[in-house]
Amino acid sequence: MMKDFKLEIASKISEVTQIKKEEIYEYIEIPKDANMGDYAFPCFRLAKELKKAPQIIAQEIKEKIDFTKTAIENVEVAGGYLNFTISKIEIAKAVLEEIEDKKENYGKSDIGKGKTILVEYSSPNIAKPFHIGHLRTTLIGRALYNMYKALGYNTIGINHLGDYGTQFGKLIEGYKRWGQEYNIEENPIEELTKIYIRINELCKNDENVLEDCRENFRKLEQGDAYCVELWERFREVSLKEFYRIYDLLDVKFDSLNGEAFYSDKTDEIIEILEKTGKLIESEGAKIIDLEDKKMPPCIICKSNGSTIYATRDLAAILYRARTYDFDKCLYVVAYEQNLHFKQVFEVAKLLGISEKCQQGLEHVSYGMVHLKDGKMSTREGNVIRVEDLLKESIARVGEIIEEKNPNFTEKEKQDIATKVGIGAVIFNDLSGNRIKDEIFDWDTMLNFNGETGPYIQYTYVRTNSVLKKVGYLPNIKEINFEKLLDKEAVEVLKLLYGYTNIIEEATNKNEPSIIARFLIDLSKAFSSFYNENKIVTEDKAVQDARIYLTYATNLVLKQAAALLGINMPEKM
Ligand code: ARG
Repeated sequence: MMKDFKLEIASKISEVTQIKKEEIYEYIEIPKDANMGDYAFPCFRLAKELKKAPQIIAQEIKEKIDFTKTAIENVEVAGGYLNFTISKIEIAKAVLEEIEDKKENYGKSDIGKGKTILVEYSSPNIAKPFHIGHLRTTLIGRALYNMYKALGYNTIGINHLGDYGTQFGKLIEGYKRWGQEYNIEENPIEELTKIYIRINELCKNDENVLEDCRENFRKLEQGDAYCVELWERFREVSLKEFYRIYDLLDVKFDSLNGEAFYSDKTDEIIEILEKTGKLIESEGAKIIDLEDKKMPPCIICKSNGSTIYATRDLAAILYRARTYDFDKCLYVVAYEQNLHFKQVFEVAKLLGISEKCQQGLEHVSYGMVHLKDGKMSTREGNVIRVEDLLKESIARVGEIIEEKNPNFTEKEKQDIATKVGIGAVIFNDLSGNRIKDEIFDWDTMLNFNGETGPYIQYTYVRTNSVLKKVGYLPNIKEINFEKLLDKEAVEVLKLLYGYTNIIEEATNKNEPSIIARFLIDLSKAFSSFYNENKIVTEDKAVQDARIYLTYATNLVLKQAAALLGINMPEKM
């Protein structure tokens, strides 16, 4: 374990105040202004108990603390705070020795050991376009998955495919009538969407057709061979198309159990709810009234007997509680579905699942994507095909690389364009607070000098070329940490030191943007360090220390980016 300076401070304060060190540990803050020291202990809470002014308490603690033989270098009273400064050498030593020891695992921990987290993400509807909102859930969800894993949680990634519902009755009907006219193998989603629009038109004018569609869905539910075969085919061709996107993004799932998987598990939900006496008839439908929770009722069963989206979500909760006994089940879904999840989580309390599972249900919502200019390659209307968007990003970066590095081989150029093009999209998506709407603008996200994916990758590549140029990695035992006391080096070291906390905070808040922010801060700090200092110099001790810091930055940049799903090019 890396030395925890906060804990050292807490122990010292505890010695002189007799307050438990765990309690003090909780109170200690990191001041926003670095001039105020590295840690601050607010004495306000003690004022009441000790019947003294906070400043006086701070002064008294300061006088009693003996911080010789500790990493604490200085203690100051400022208002009701005690500000602590940690020795820069101690920070450098703690961080770099830990990085030497843990390498790729630096910053990771096992605080989640024994706990199970389900992360549900992506979950597109088959036979419908994978739109930009699905891109967000895919990227946020994958990042959360990686983050929980890094903290030792047993993490399970679920793609809750929208592969069921009455619309499949319509699709089957449309296919029966005009299937031959459409090139479904070539362009499954586009073609199936056309069929769907066409059959919907027909249904509007012809009640008999609509009845046929309903009949198809009933047959599908009952396992009719023809209907099931068609449905399976729609699912398969859609998945094939989705996987072109997932492969580009390098996204994986542990489970593809979607809505259809739960279609035979909804009867039990109705039975359970019926037994609670809370399932009531309303206009032929079966509903759970949620008026006392100030919500519209949750429909469980429509008047024609078929279940709906919410019923399948309830079945999924019961199944997941039984199968995984999860500590948390996170739903990464756009905020449009806020009400849906509130209703479903409320009804889930009636299913007899454990208190733990009930409490663990959490909707991780996110904002919409706006386009800055309308000139993005779209095919039909305003639907942006995510695959086109990713390819366009790769192509745009390809042009930049071609201009910058015409001498790279074709293979190298392609590899860089893919990593940087995809990385730019991912970073753009994850860099803002997830609940805020996102602005999609090519120029901003591909700016190599902005707060972007390419900027981080470029910084990483810079660390790589330094390491390659010097051609050796000094032995940590021979590093003189006093050579890293310049302002820029200290800034890098402090950021590296805080990395573990960053992962924890980001995970507690389900907020990948905290890691994105860290990546920018670290990249900027390293750039200043690099610009202000010669890494290769006559003084071997200085050079070694700086090389080691470069190596540490290189390692952490790569690992932190990987948490977000961003791959680093080795050169660019
Ligand atoms: N398939 C849905 C959609 O595309 C999202 C599913 C979200 N997950 C859930 N368990 N309801 O809008």
